[in-house]
Amino acid sequence: MPALNNCHNIADLRRKAQSRLPAPMFHYIDGGSDDEWTLRRNTLAFDDYQFNPGYLRDVSRIDLGVNVLGCDLALPFFLAPTGMSRLFHHEKEPAACRAAHRFGTLYSLSTLATTSLEDVAACSDGPRMFQIYILKDRELTREFVQRCRAAGYHALCLTVDTPLAGNRERDLYNGMTMPPKITPRNFFSYGTSFHWLFHLLRAPDFRLANVAHRVDALGGGAMGLIDYVNSQFDRSVTWDDAAWLVDQWDGPFVIKGLLSVEDVKRARDIGASGVMVSNHGGRQLEGAPAPVDCIAALRDAVGDDLQLIADGGIRRGTHIIKALALGADACSIGRGYLYGLAAGGQRGVERALHLLRAELERSLALLGCASVRELRADMVRHLPRY
Ligand SMILES: Cc1cc2nc3c(=O)[nH]c(=O)nc-3n(C[C@H](O)[C@H](O)[C@H](O)COP(=O)(O)O)c2cc1C
Repeated sequence: MPALNNCHNIADLRRKAQSRLPAPMFHYIDGGSDDEWTLRRNTLAFDDYQFNPGYLRDVSRIDLGVNVLGCDLALPFFLAPTGMSRLFHHEKEPAACRAAHRFGTLYSLSTLATTSLEDVAACSDGPRMFQIYILKDRELTREFVQRCRAAGYHALCLTVDTPLAGNRERDLYNGMTMPPKITPRNFFSYGTSFHWLFHLLRAPDFRLANVAHRVDALGGGAMGLIDYVNSQFDRSVTWDDAAWLVDQWDGPFVIKGLLSVEDVKRARDIGASGVMVSNHGGRQLEGAPAPVDCIAALRDAVGDDLQLIADGGIRRGTHIIKALALGADACSIGRGYLYGLAAGGQRGVERALHLLRAELERSLALLGCASVRELRADMVRHLPRY
């Protein structure tokens, strides 16, 4: 496998991640729900748009900066919340957070993280968002709000596309459990992931650090991940709960997982500052549309009243440029940085961010744009379907 510096795109980092991780962990990152049509479509949809370049413009300096949720970011994309980073690398969430901040962008911490929100806050001063689920234990939600305020989080993100976990069949085939459990079926893949295994034996700290004190879910040994997630999600959560949380937080607030005009307008009406247009990276509802295909209509519907973040399928700088041109204020990436984390901890995440930044700078200049703020809908064309 190539060294990190010889990984020249996210696909290379993905291959490196696969070579380092036991199969259950790799497929937990890589997989989606059911037949994985939505997962594939999230990335393939970008191919339905082509650029309309302009030349003889001064592109000697490229500005990638955006303002999202009141934070000035040096990049037009940030790190989406992803649970359980310890499964992928022993440096876990702080590695991703530090890398994000070194590149001047925002880090989102998941409710289901393996590092506490206080420990992540202590690792750097950069902008941070906490992703919250309204769990059955509502007291925990109230507690998160107070802890995030005390720890200086800049924004709160409520994920709403997870009333229950999606059907991720790769996890079933590969014996994915949390904490990991070595079984006869996956023995070989654990046994050959020497680096990962070494750190497993040294520090098997797979606690869901933000919830473990209230939910003794992991106490009874290895539990199916989907069973655990299902046991905590509350299917009775409604817009009233979302509105309640907006009031409780009283600061930059994002709703993650909306795709329809009706829902996005509703998010605006209850006072959200932004929406992450997302299908959870193809891990929840199979058949949900690709976020990039939704952006233009959502932007038309809400004008400048709400920030729109395109989340899902991004593997290239050109994908980010297309989403921004169609009307997104920023983008977010999940697997794109997790492959880097698994491939090499903080250095791997930095490699992913470096590659995407270089692709953005190069492609913007080739498109004839000196700044992401200049991107307009007429710079991309939707290809007709045959
Ligand atoms: C391994 C993994 C764990 C995730 N965990 C969470 C989570 O805890 N909370 C959440 O809101 N989204 C979670 N997501 C979804 C991401 O926030 C994001 O929506 C998705 O990864 C975007 O698609 P992409 O991976 O193609 O960039 C997770 C995604 C992955 C791949």
